[in-house]
Amino acid sequence: MSETDTTTDASTSDQTTAGTVTTSGESVEETRDAWTDYDVGGEPIMSVENLDVYYGDDHALKDISMDIPEKSVTALIGPSGCGKSTFLRCLNRMNDRIDAARIEGTVAFDGQDIYQPGTNLVELRKRVGMVFQEPNPFPKSIRDNIAYGPRKHGEINRGLVARLLGRDEKEKEDDLVETSLRKAAIWDEVNDRLGDNALGLSGGQQQRLCIARALATDPEVLLMDEPASALDPIATSKIEDLIEELAEEYTVVVVTHNMQQAARISDQTAVFLTGGELVEYDDTEKIFENPESQRVEDYITGKFG
Ligand SMILES: Nc1ncnc2c1ncn2[C@@H]1O[C@H](COP(=O)(O)OP(=O)(O)O)[C@@H](O)[C@H]1O
Ligand SMILES: [Mg+2]
Repeated sequence: MSETDTTTDASTSDQTTAGTVTTSGESVEETRDAWTDYDVGGEPIMSVENLDVYYGDDHALKDISMDIPEKSVTALIGPSGCGKSTFLRCLNRMNDRIDAARIEGTVAFDGQDIYQPGTNLVELRKRVGMVFQEPNPFPKSIRDNIAYGPRKHGEINRGLVARLLGRDEKEKEDDLVETSLRKAAIWDEVNDRLGDNALGLSGGQQQRLCIARALATDPEVLLMDEPASALDPIATSKIEDLIEELAEEYTVVVVTHNMQQAARISDQTAVFLTGGELVEYDDTEKIFENPESQRVEDYITGKFG
């Protein structure tokens, strides 16, 4: 009997008043709005309000409201299946491509709801670019990976018309390629072989090339979904350094399941937990050192998830 009592005492003393414990060790608690009411200080560049996402009958994200401050790194963390990728895709309407997905709520970018009818999706995705988990360069030259999009959308005109107009488009393109590759910290590694096929690069180089490709359309926000999880530790650390550098000029929103990575590179962290809830959102230091939610603390200390 005394043994049972001791166990009970030890586990309850661990809990805040809001929590009780399930058999798996995960606490059950009422979430509080105050935990996600993060003050970004000034106008957010993106503002999500009352966002719900359904895949058929599956309610994947529940009533998410969250402001994203500009020129900083916002990390999205949480166990697999909690809706991080779904949330990220909502920020540039990538979920539109999934037939089963239904979205309610608003996502304001630069003061405009991106879900209002008439939104130009090509323009939106240029301004809010995306980088995926698996590097996905085009099977083209390094140069063409950067120049293809802008050329296709008419920012770089080549051929007779351009020549008749007397503009040196070749030079403009060279500039764009170099600037984008430099910003993605890969210029030094590839400048002597811009004509080579991008698929010949290492995984880490391919991912930095994909970041350069996203930068070439002059975005304001970069969405990254576990951008380093397919890479080795050295390539990962290069991507982490790059993300921190990019945040001086761009707004970066990055999904990661690597908590040390979130702690290292982000300014604020949003914790999503099973069931598609945003449970806590605050300065990264606060989330990792002294979270309000017991479930967040359990998750961060590795008690579940
Ligand atoms: N294309 C899809 N079709 C149907 N259900 C999906 C789709 N993508 C994600 N889901 C479901 O939505 C939930 C959240 O998934 P996801 O956003 O991928 O989570 P995470 O990125 O946190 O692992 C999961 O239950 C997943 O099965
Ligand atoms: Mg995901």
